[in-house]
Amino acid sequence: GAAIEVDISTLQPGEKRVVEWRGKPVWIMRRTPEQLAALEKQEDQLADPNSDRKTYPTPEYAKNRHRSIKPEVLVAVGICTHLGCSPGDKFTPGPQPSLPDDWQGGFLCACHGSTFDVAGRVFKNKPAPDNLEVPPHYYLSDTTLLVG
Ligand code: FES
Repeated sequence: GAAIEVDISTLQPGEKRVVEWRGKPVWIMRRTPEQLAALEKQEDQLADPNSDRKTYPTPEYAKNRHRSIKPEVLVAVGICTHLGCSPGDKFTPGPQPSLPDDWQGGFLCACHGSTFDVAGRVFKNKPAPDNLEVPPHYYLSDTTLLVG
């Protein structure tokens, strides 16, 4: 399918929207300062903190801690890299049963328990082989995103 244009001018901190691109759900989320700060607190528990794995190659402009062009705005395909379920939101920080130690919040795939941080980076010891896919995208203006 064609690239899609998304207006993010009203996207609020902490809000996640889902748009469809090539039949896939693409998440667009404006992360809060707290969520961004949390990204470095659990890096030692990640399987691929620098997004070097190649199953779903991360675009160069997203090979950073926040995995995005604008630090606060995540753009990621909301499909688990294990067997394709859609992970849910689990933004409450703090220890929770069956979640990694020092959990800072992120996404949890209920199918087989893979967990991802709010940049879509997978935790080690979890079945998903790669971080969530970052689709090709760029900004047409400060508030207009083009996915695809
Ligand atoms: Fe997500 Fe298996 S499909 S953990």
